Amino acid sequence: MPSRTSQEQFDRQAPQYNAEWNEWNRESLAWLMEHAHCQPSHRLLDVATGAGFTAVAFAPLVAEVTGVDVSAAMLEKARERARAAGLANLVFESGAAESLPFAADAFDGVLCRLAAHHFVSPAKFVAEAYRVLRPGGRLLVADSAEPDDAPEVDAWHNHVEVLRDGSHVRNYTASQWRGFVTDAGFALEALDEVPESVPITLRAWLEKGGCSGEAAAEVRRLFLEAPAEAVRTFAITPMPDGDIRFQWVRIALAARKPG
Ligand SMILES: C[S@@+](CC[C@H](N)C(=O)[O-])C[C@H]1O[C@@H](n2cnc3c(N)ncnc32)[C@H](O)[C@@H]1O
Repeated sequence: MPSRTSQEQFDRQAPQYNAEWNEWNRESLAWLMEHAHCQPSHRLLDVATGAGFTAVAFAPLVAEVTGVDVSAAMLEKARERARAAGLANLVFESGAAESLPFAADAFDGVLCRLAAHHFVSPAKFVAEAYRVLRPGGRLLVADSAEPDDAPEVDAWHNHVEVLRDGSHVRNYTASQWRGFVTDAGFALEALDEVPESVPITLRAWLEKGGCSGEAAAEVRRLFLEAPAEAVRTFAITPMPDGDIRFQWVRIALAARKPG
């Protein structure tokens, strides 16, 4: 179990989820938009909507987007973002990915970006997505991931993630994601590694996670002493100003409920 709940973590850190965070994740958002096959009549559900970046990006393309999240502070940020964008076809509700508060067959698409690594059970989330999608509807997920067959990289990465944010559960590999969606009954349409173009800097990443003091010093030490394979995989690069630059691996998938 995570040492801190997502609700505690994100109620505290909501002000940090700003445009800089969205820039770090812009290619994964573009990938989801490209693979969603949105129609103007569609109703979408954005699971773990956070500050609403994904929901707001999709809203102009469809009839309605519902955003759901466990953090009241993040939902408030999402409502502000929708208002500022002048969009009236968004609703935001409290709810958990593993027990979605919606009827069966209610949505044409379910989205989830950069959040599933916080879920206690991604398999339950995928099963819930299947339940709330109409036959023929699509699940679109993007998340931080680990390379397949790289246990040292996997262990190092998940360890620094948990030190930085106690609500991190784990990043999965592409093979694990393939298993989650096919076990739930989905037909996998696409599963890609998506390089993000904007590198993350360690100081900003720690700040967004609310990680300071001894924990931050330990994360920094782990970056400086990262295994060679992790350095290569995540392009970990010390900077002249003492900060460290890196790029996480993202996977993105599109899967269709048969029917
Ligand atoms: C980084 S933010 C998500 C960003 C958002 N999806 C986007 O693309 O802009 C992660 C969010 O996941 C939410 N979350 C974590 N675990 C959850 C769960 N089990 N059910 C619903 N929301 C959850 C957190 O409250 C937080 O708002």
